[in-house]
Amino acid sequence: MNVIDNIKAQVEAACKQTVSCADILAVAARDSVVALGGPSWTVPLGRRDSTTASLSLANSDLPAPSFDVANLTANFAAKGLSVTDMVALSGGHTIGQSQCRFFRSRLYNETNIAVAFATSLKANCPRTTSSGNSSLAPLDTTTPNGFDNAYYSNLMSQKGLLHSDQVLINDGRTAGLVRTYSSASAQFNGDFAAAMVRMGNISPLTGAQGQIRLSCSRVN
Ligand code: HEM
Repeated sequence: MNVIDNIKAQVEAACKQTVSCADILAVAARDSVVALGGPSWTVPLGRRDSTTASLSLANSDLPAPSFDVANLTANFAAKGLSVTDMVALSGGHTIGQSQCRFFRSRLYNETNIAVAFATSLKANCPRTTSSGNSSLAPLDTTTPNGFDNAYYSNLMSQKGLLHSDQVLINDGRTAGLVRTYSSASAQFNGDFAAAMVRMGNISPLTGAQGQIRLSCSRVN
């Protein structure tokens, strides 16, 4: 949020209350991917910001890391996104980190996880829920700071960090795409970019709807 606040301050100084936080986030997401070696795409602009903010509503709309392919598919379909969009967008986990609380159950209860991978993660993510909940591990253990298709080959060697990642290779509806993306990075890049545009177009506020926030972390 500090990065977004910083961008927002500079945009406001140049042009008062004109560019929404939603548009800034969409452009920053694209530029972050490009900076880390991933594809570029044109971001449709003109979104406005919500006049409300709700943690519980956001969480009830977002998929959970405990989801299987059926739940994930339904969750994406509810927003007009296809199975291909879902598998391509999951490749966003080629960068970034997760807290232990979201992958602990996978470490200690699942068998489709590479043994050495699980052992090294357990060092900072103990079985007991009384400690380590916020310890971080990279979502892509192979190239954590580069935007590439290693996320998919990780799944093929049982090195997905989240349950919702690893299930993609164990389900007939998604396994073929995982294998394709693991070997065809240009196809992954193209499908990811197209799916980012579709995800960014989910029910935008336009025209007289919503507001242009002055601070991205609160409504006006
Ligand atoms: C398929 C359903 C998805 C699930 C269940 C999911 C779940 C998660 C979880 C649990 C985390 C860790 C959050 C934390 O520890 O605080 C995470 C992080 C992340 N996710 Fe997802 N995610 C999904 C889809 C996506 C999509 C579509 C994208 C973008 C295209 C994405 C990009 C990221 C990134 C970049 C991070 C790292 C954030 C950071 O390091 O600060 N995820 N995701």
